[in-house]
Order: sequence, then C-alpha cells, then structure tokens
Amino acid sequence: MTDTLLRGRILTFHRAPENSADNSAYSYIEDGALLLRNGMIAASGAFDTIAPQATGARVTDHRPHLLMAGFIDTHLHFPQAQIVASWGSQLLDWLNGYVFPEEARFGDPAHATAIATRFFDVLLQHGTTTAVAYCSVHAASADAYFSEAARRNMRMIGGKVMMDRNAPDIVCDTPQSSYDETTALIRKWHGQGRAGYAVSPRFAITSTPEQMEMAGALAAENPGCHVQTHLSENREEIAFATSLYPDAGDYLHIYDTYGLLSDKMLLGHAIHLSDREVASLAETGAHPVFCPTSNLFLGSGFFNDARLRGAGVTNAIATDIGAGTSYSMLQTLNEGYKILQVQNQKLHALRAFDWITRGNADVLGLSDKIGTLDAGTEADIVVLDAWATPAMQLRMDRAETLDEELFVLQIMGDDRAIAQTYVAGIPQKPAA
Ligand code: GUN
Ligand code: ZN
Repeated sequence: MTDTLLRGRILTFHRAPENSADNSAYSYIEDGALLLRNGMIAASGAFDTIAPQATGARVTDHRPHLLMAGFIDTHLHFPQAQIVASWGSQLLDWLNGYVFPEEARFGDPAHATAIATRFFDVLLQHGTTTAVAYCSVHAASADAYFSEAARRNMRMIGGKVMMDRNAPDIVCDTPQSSYDETTALIRKWHGQGRAGYAVSPRFAITSTPEQMEMAGALAAENPGCHVQTHLSENREEIAFATSLYPDAGDYLHIYDTYGLLSDKMLLGHAIHLSDREVASLAETGAHPVFCPTSNLFLGSGFFNDARLRGAGVTNAIATDIGAGTSYSMLQTLNEGYKILQVQNQKLHALRAFDWITRGNADVLGLSDKIGTLDAGTEADIVVLDAWATPAMQLRMDRAETLDEELFVLQIMGDDRAIAQTYVAGIPQKPAA
C-alpha cells in the first residue's frame, strides 16, 4: 500500500496537563507531518524531518488545520441512537418509557445491522474513532456492532447488556443465557482485528444476584475484557439498587461483592458517592465515566471531578448517547466545562483535549495503541477546523494562542469542526 504523508499543525499529549501553562505535557508542531504506513503512524515530527523519509508517499496538506489523535468515547448506547432527545423524565421513567421498548427492536438482526451502519457513520462524522458501547440484550445486536466495526477496521469495544429483572421480558435474558451468550461473543469477537469485548451487566437494578455472579465469573475468566456498568447516577436509582441488595451497604459495594472492581472497569456517571465509595474506586483502580450532556439532560446531578481526582481516581469522559444529547466529544467537553464551572472547578482546554484522546485511551489501557500521534501507534486521526462556522471565524479573528484556539473548539465546536477523520490511515470523507 502507498504511504500517506499528512501535513498540518500537530498536537499530541504525553500526559495530563496540570494547567494551561504545562507545556511539557504535549508536543505541538506548527509545520508538522505524519507518515502513515499500513494503518500505523510510521513517523511523526516536523515536516522538514519527515518529508525526506516519505519518498513516493501521497501527500495531503491539511494546513492550517490541526491534526490530533481520533476522539475516544468511553460510554454510549448503540441501540439508543433513535431515542436521543426523548422528552421529559428522569432516569428510571426514561428507561422504562423509552429505552427498554427501543432496545427490544434490536432482537431483529436486520434492524440492528441497519442502525449499526448509520451509527458508525455518525461517530466518524464527529471525529470519534474508538467507542465503548452497550449493545442491547440480544447477541444479534453485538454481532451487528462488531461486524460493522470490523468492516471499517475501527478499534471498538462493546458488549451485549446482561439484564434479567425489572424490565420487560422482551429485553431480559437469564443468568445462564447471559453467561453463555457473553462467552460465545467474547470467543467470536474479543481480540479479533481491533475489537475488544466489555462484559456489560446493565446496572444493579436490572440484574439478580445470580446474574451478578455470572458477570463476576465472566470478568474472572476473561481478564483481558473490560467490564462496564452504571453507578449512582440518580438518587431514586441508588435507593432502589441498595434496597435490592440490602447487605451491600452502598451501591459500589454491590459490584465489589461480585468481584467486578478493577482497572478494567468503567462505571458510568458515578455522581452521588460516599467517601467510602470514592476510597474504594481509588483502591481498585476502577474508572468513573463523566457523561456531561446526559447528566444535564436527565437532571441527574453534577459529577465531582476534583473530588475523585484528588483521591487518586482516574476518570473517563463520554457522551452517553442516548441520554446524552450529542455525539460530539467537543460538545461533551463544552457541557463538561460548565458542570465543573458551577462547582468552581475548571476544565482548561489542554486537559480537555488530552482527556478525549490520550486520557480516555489510558483509562482503557490502550494508550500504546491509540490516543496519541506517536510513531508506532495506530493511525486514527482527526483534523480540526477552528474556523468551521461564521461564529467561530468571528471569534478566531481575536484568538492569538493555541490555548485560545483549543478553547474555541472545546466550547463552540461540533461535527462541523471535524474537517477529516482517518481510521487506520484511511480518510473517511472525500477530500474537499
Ligand atoms: N442506567 C442503566 N441503564 C442506563 C441507560 O441506558 N442510560 C443511562 N443514562 N443510565 C442507565
Ligand atoms: Zn449509559
């Protein structure tokens, strides 16, 4: 395959920036280049240094745009793509009124396949090259998801939800069938190409203790897999979950009882936590996932990033489509900024862009493969245009620094600011 040389301004992170002056946390090259070969970044640096190594390469000049690692969305629901923006209620009513009936439709493999195609198109339009998704309870929905990811050679993680109570029969499995189907899906997909499996008990409310045991067994038998669930999103949910597990003491301890807590675990929301729960997250290395647009949409509450980080916990950030209202990780940062702002916490632009790239990759244990523009990593790349709309152009006339440009993208950007997305070195949009 011919090599490709991308020219443009390059920004990549080495660690989480501590403040907006933490210049050693990242590399920024004004006239940079990436040499792409066989789906990987073969070389990364100044254009003058890289170009001589690129004889015969096809050159794409993205100047004046900014090249960054593709965005990583660590929590969303593939079968909820058609219920984004469903009116009115808070978590439990919203699940019963919209989510469970919608997810029931994914028992039909043809429907799951049709939605998967459009779902992946939308992710890429928003610059998201890796995502961690819940599929429906049906194995067919996970097959549709992973088949589409494989067809596009995307590094995607997902799993069928396990749920055996407090939901209509049509979206329930049983402890044994959830174990058997998850095991079969792991054998079929985990580690095939770029796919990774996440064992996915939906949350304590929709799993019996018997099913939680099965989830624990699956996690123990498949230590390379992630585990994902929901935690402490909403007060009513917490009261219900803890009433179903009266011996647990607190919500997080339910998952702990079944051996689910580890650094492979992603816990969506994690808003209303006791000191004991925060300490347990820090001790086990499990990762809360901040879902700003979802938390505002469902009125769930304000994620306390500083408290968790201060305790030594590493947080992820995500859209949570379909309670989340935008696929854009830029819009997710925008709303995340505001949620932290009302708590007198700050999400400065350098940290924000590290978070949706290297930071989320690090949470997933994948920062050697994705999340940076380092040579030797996979060529998932996003091209950002801070002048994408008239309003952004007006604002950018007064922007003087990289930090200001990034903040404009963080607050005003969305899919219109994604000039191009590369998956394993392949551009996903026709060149303009
Ligand atoms: N808790 C359990 N399931 C869900 C879901 O699908 N969305 C959200 N936001 N919270 C959940
Ligand atoms: Zn969720």
